[in-house]
Amino acid sequence: MLRSLTQADCAAWQQLAQAIHDAHAHSAPFSPQASLDAFHGSVDCSGTQLMGTFSESGTLVGYFRLRPGRRSELLGAGGVHPDHPGRATGSLLMTAMLEQARRTAGGATRIRVSADPADRMWTDAVLARGFAADGGAITMEHTLRGLPSMPPPEGFSIAPLDPAHQPQVMLALHNEVFADVPGAHHWSAADWQEQMLAKPQLRPDLSFTISHGDRPVGYLHAEEWPGERREVWIARVGTRREYRQRGVAGALLSHFLSACARAGFEVAGLAVALGNPSRPENLYTSLGFHVESRAFDYVLPLR
Ligand SMILES: CC(C)(COP(=O)(O)OP(=O)(O)OC[C@H]1O[C@@H](n2cnc3c(N)ncnc32)[C@H](O)[C@@H]1OP(=O)(O)O)[C@@H](O)C(=O)NCCC(=O)NCCS
Repeated sequence: MLRSLTQADCAAWQQLAQAIHDAHAHSAPFSPQASLDAFHGSVDCSGTQLMGTFSESGTLVGYFRLRPGRRSELLGAGGVHPDHPGRATGSLLMTAMLEQARRTAGGATRIRVSADPADRMWTDAVLARGFAADGGAITMEHTLRGLPSMPPPEGFSIAPLDPAHQPQVMLALHNEVFADVPGAHHWSAADWQEQMLAKPQLRPDLSFTISHGDRPVGYLHAEEWPGERREVWIARVGTRREYRQRGVAGALLSHFLSACARAGFEVAGLAVALGNPSRPENLYTSLGFHVESRAFDYVLPLR
């Protein structure tokens, strides 16, 4: 049986999330809080559809989630209980997800689905429908214990971000820094307004600019989203090309992590696009971040 999940399915969802997690080779332990955050963030969020499939005995054995994304895309995700005869469940979920996507597409022209490569049942169900691989990301977390201590290199100083100060300079810095990062798009002044000045989740007090003399050369933008655990999210971090490999981002991140620990956060997280040519995951690992999850992206036109 397939139906929308409600708050009453919370415990069943946690068991499913734990079983899927335990079946895969994650380096991080299962986080009950993160699974609850994902559940509540989907059930309570308008525009997001979270559906589950149940065995004859009433056990939740798989799910899919659909929500609107950027660039005329719907975003899909899902998973199958490792003990359940996988192919049939994965295939059933995929059929239902695609039907639902076509019914509720609105202006969306394609669907993007992420899949943990270790979840063979879900990945096989995606590939069997002719989805094409299109990038992906790893999510990394820092538990804000064992904090690194990296002072800024000589001549550099770190200050809290004032999003309204020199917006053109900061926008140009952002566009320069992310020019060759896959999946990043060029920001307009309107994007700056939307993503920085008007974004309630932005934490300017935990966002920083690093300058060489008076010249801003790097930055870190932090956001806080509602959830059951206090997690701060690194939305963006970057260094001008000519200042890289000198410890600029390392110092920014070290400063940021200490500020987050002082502010009472439990965890700091970020996502790294697969194929990012600056390979930031090495730096993050050396600062104490660990890989929380991996996901490949697959896309399919919605006809
Ligand atoms: C990823 C990025 C932020 C790193 O910035 P950075 O200022 O070069 O970072 P750091 O200098 O602190 O560290 C980078 C490397 O230089 C090394 N390094 C630090 N100080 C050094 C020094 N004095 N001499 C030589 N190497 C040094 C670090 O150990 C690190 O090595 P690793 O990658 O092997 O771990 C930068 O490449 C960037 O802006 N990329 C584009 C935007 C982007 O991808 N952002 C991340 C999105 S997730």
